[in-house]
Amino acid sequence: MELKLSILLVLCLLAGSLATKYDEFTYNGFKRSDLCLDGVAEITPSGLLKLTNATRYQPGHAFHKMPLHLKNTSDGNVYSFSTCFVFAILPEHPDVSGPGLAFVLSPTRGLPGALPNQYLGLFNLTNNGDPSNHVLAVELDTVSNMEFGDIDSNHVGIDVNGLRSINAAPASYFIEKIGEFKNLSLISGEPMLVWIDYSNPEKTLNVTISPINVPKPSRPLLSSFINLSSIILDTMYIGFSSSGTNLGYHYVLGWSFKMNGQAATLNLSSLPSLPSKKHGGKLTSLIIWPALGVVVFIAITAFGIAYMIRRKARYAEVVEEWEIEHRTHRFSYKELFKATKGFREVNLLGVGGFGRVYKGKLPSSKTEIAVKRMSHDSKQGMREFVGEIVSNSQLRHRNLVQLLGYSRRKGELLLVYEFMPNGSLDNFLYDANRPTTLNWSQRLKIIRGVASGLLYLHEEWEQIVIHRDIKASNVLLDREMNGKLGDFGLSRLYDHGSNPQITHVVGTFGYIAPELTKTGRATTSTDVFAFGVFILEVVCGRRPIMLQESPDLHLVDWAWRSWRNGVILEVTDASLGGDYDPGEVELILNIGLLCSHPVPAARPTMRQVMQFLDGDLSLPDIPKDGRGITPQHAEELEGS
Ligand SMILES: *[C@@H]1O[C@H](CO)[C@@H](O)[C@H](O)[C@H]1NC(C)=O
Ligand SMILES: *[C@@H]1O[C@H](CO)[C@@H](O)[C@H](O)[C@H]1NC(C)=O
Ligand SMILES: *[C@@H]1O[C@H](CO)[C@@H](O)[C@H](O)[C@H]1NC(C)=O
Ligand SMILES: *[C@@H]1O[C@H](CO)[C@@H](O)[C@H](O)[C@H]1NC(C)=O
Ligand SMILES: *[C@@H]1O[C@H](CO)[C@@H](O)[C@H](O)[C@H]1NC(C)=O
Ligand SMILES: *[C@@H]1O[C@H](CO)[C@@H](O)[C@H](O)[C@H]1NC(C)=O
Ligand SMILES: *[C@@H]1O[C@H](CO)[C@@H](O)[C@H](O)[C@H]1NC(C)=O
Repeated sequence: MELKLSILLVLCLLAGSLATKYDEFTYNGFKRSDLCLDGVAEITPSGLLKLTNATRYQPGHAFHKMPLHLKNTSDGNVYSFSTCFVFAILPEHPDVSGPGLAFVLSPTRGLPGALPNQYLGLFNLTNNGDPSNHVLAVELDTVSNMEFGDIDSNHVGIDVNGLRSINAAPASYFIEKIGEFKNLSLISGEPMLVWIDYSNPEKTLNVTISPINVPKPSRPLLSSFINLSSIILDTMYIGFSSSGTNLGYHYVLGWSFKMNGQAATLNLSSLPSLPSKKHGGKLTSLIIWPALGVVVFIAITAFGIAYMIRRKARYAEVVEEWEIEHRTHRFSYKELFKATKGFREVNLLGVGGFGRVYKGKLPSSKTEIAVKRMSHDSKQGMREFVGEIVSNSQLRHRNLVQLLGYSRRKGELLLVYEFMPNGSLDNFLYDANRPTTLNWSQRLKIIRGVASGLLYLHEEWEQIVIHRDIKASNVLLDREMNGKLGDFGLSRLYDHGSNPQITHVVGTFGYIAPELTKTGRATTSTDVFAFGVFILEVVCGRRPIMLQESPDLHLVDWAWRSWRNGVILEVTDASLGGDYDPGEVELILNIGLLCSHPVPAARPTMRQVMQFLDGDLSLPDIPKDGRGITPQHAEELEGS
C-alpha cells in the first residue's frame, strides 16, 4: 500500500502532459495530496480534509488537481470508474444538523458562483437543474428541503445537474445476515465509508455507505441506471463540496479512485484521527458513563430526600410513578419556593395567558430563573404534556428561551426557564412607560433572531416543532437585546379541550392564519403567518388589532392596503423618526406581507425567510392583490 502511494507520488511529481495516466490515486489522509482547495476548505496539520469551519454561509471545495479523461474519444463511451472515501460530520450541537456534503464530478476545478446552505456549494438559483452544468453529485444530505423534494434530513442522493435527486434513500446499509437495511445517522460524528461505482456496460451507478468497522455491504443503498455519456464531458474534475454553517464540521479522512477498475481499499488504521472535541470516542465514554452514574445516583438520592420533605404540606407536590423517567428535569417545589422567595409579589415578572411568571435564583447554583405557574386541574393529557415539556427542554438554540425543567403540585404545573433580563418585547414596542425606544438595527436583529429560532423549531431539530403562539409578548430579550422565542408548544396543553375557557386554543387573536380558523390544524405555515404579523408588529410598533382606532384596525389589512397603494413605508413606526434605510425597511415589510399572505401556498418557509433576510434569495414579486395569486407563483413558492 505504501509502495503504491509512493509510486503515485512520484508519478504526480512527473505531472504535466501525462494527465491521462492519472486515472488512479489513493489518499490515506491528505498530508501530501494533490488537491485544489477553495472557500473555507483546508487540510489540517494532521492530514484531515476539512470542508467547513465555523464561518457562516461559505462553501468549501476540494478537487483533485489533475483532470480526468473519462470518455473514450473514439466512441464517446464513459469509462467505468470506482471511488471510495471516508467522511465524518461532527455537529456543533448533538442532533442538530446543518447542510451536508457531496462528492462531485464537474467540468471545472471548483464551482464558482455556487451557493452555500441547501445548495451544498454545488449550484445556485440560476443554474440549479440546468442540463448544461454537466455536474454529477452524490449528496450526503442532512437537511430536509421541501424545495428540492428531499425525502428526509438524513439521506443519500444521486444528483444530476441539480439538487432534486434522481434517486435517494435514507442513510442506511445492508446487513446480509438479517437481509435488511439498518439506518445510520450521517451526523453521528463517526467516520463512515462511501463507495461510488459506475459500470459503463451496465450503465449503472451504485452508491453504498457503511460504518467504518463494517466491510463493504453486498447490496448498494442506491443503484441507478444512468447513461453518463451526455453528462460527462471529455475533461472532468472530481472532488468534494460542502457548505459551511456554524452548525457542524465536515471532514474527509481518506479517498481512493480508479478508472476501469476497483478503487483501492483504504488503510483504515493509517487515516488521520478526528478532533476529539465533539467526538465521543472510547475515552470520553470511559469518563461519561461513571459520571452519568454518579449524576443518576445523586438524582435518585435527591429524589428520595425530596420525597421525605414532601410531608411538609407547604412544599407538598404531586409525583406520579410515570414521572420517574423525567426526574432529571424535575425541580422540587421547595427549591422553586425558596428561589422565588415564596412567590412574592415583588418577584412577579408578569401575568400572561398561561399564568403568572416569577423571577427567582436557584439556592444551590445561584442561576437566575423564571418560573411560570400555571393552573391545570386535568389529569388527562398531563403525562403526554410533561413528556413533551421534557423533550422540549432538549431544544437548544440561542434564539429560544431555554426550558430547564418543571415541577408539579396539586392542580398546578410549574415550568422553569432561563431568566431574560430585558423582559418581553411588547414592553419595548408599545408600553407607555417603555424603558427605551428600539432603534431600527435592534429591531432588525430581533426579527432575524426570531426567524432563526423558528427555523430551528421547524426544520433543524429531529422533530418538527410548531410554536403555535408567535407574538411580540412571547419574544423575550436577553442582556444584549437578542430576541428569544418563549412558550413553544404550550398551547398544546389546552388543545386537548381540557380547559375550554382559555381563549388560547389555537393561538392568539390577530395572529391566527385564516385557514386555521377553518381547519383548526396548526402547521408550520400557520406559524409563518403569525411570524409575518410579528414582523409587521415590530416594524410598525402597533398591536395586530388596534381597538382604539375606529373602526377597529387590523394591522395586516392596513399593511396590505398601504402596500397596494404604493405607500408601504407609511406604516413604519413613527417613533423611529425616519432613522433607517428605507430599502431595508421595505424589504422587511415585504417579507412580513409575504409571510402573512392569506393563501398558505404563497407563504415562504422559514428557511426561505432566512435566505431573504440574508440576501441569499431575492424576494419573489408579491401578487398585486393580496387575495389573488397566480397558480405559477404558488407553485414556485411551494417548490412544486
Ligand atoms: C496500514 O497503516 C499502518 C499504519 O500506518 C501500517 O502499519 C500498515 O502496514 C498499513 N497496512 C497496509 C496493508 O498497507
Ligand atoms: C475558518 O477559515 C478561515 C479562512 O480559511 C480561517 O481564517 C479561520 O481560522 C477558520 N476558522 C476555524 C474555526 O477553523
Ligand atoms: C475506445 O473505443 C474504441 C471503439 O469502440 C475501442 O476500440 C477502444 O478499445 C476503446 N478504448 C478503451 C481504452 O476502452
Ligand atoms: C451561478 O453559477 C454559474 C456557474 O458557476 C455562474 O456562471 C453564475 O454567474 C452564477 N449565478 C449567480 C447569480 O451567481
Ligand atoms: C429508518 O429511517 C427511515 C427514514 O428516517 C424511517 O422511515 C425508518 O422507519 C427507519 N427504520 C428503522 C428500522 O428505524
Ligand atoms: C450495482 O448493484 C447491482 C445490484 O446489487 C449489481 O447487480 C451491479 O453489479 C452493481 N454495479 C456496480 C457497478 O457495482
Ligand atoms: C447513451 O447516450 C449516448 C449519447 O447520448 C448514446 O449514443 C447511447 O446510445 C446511449 N446508450 C444507451 C445504452 O442508452
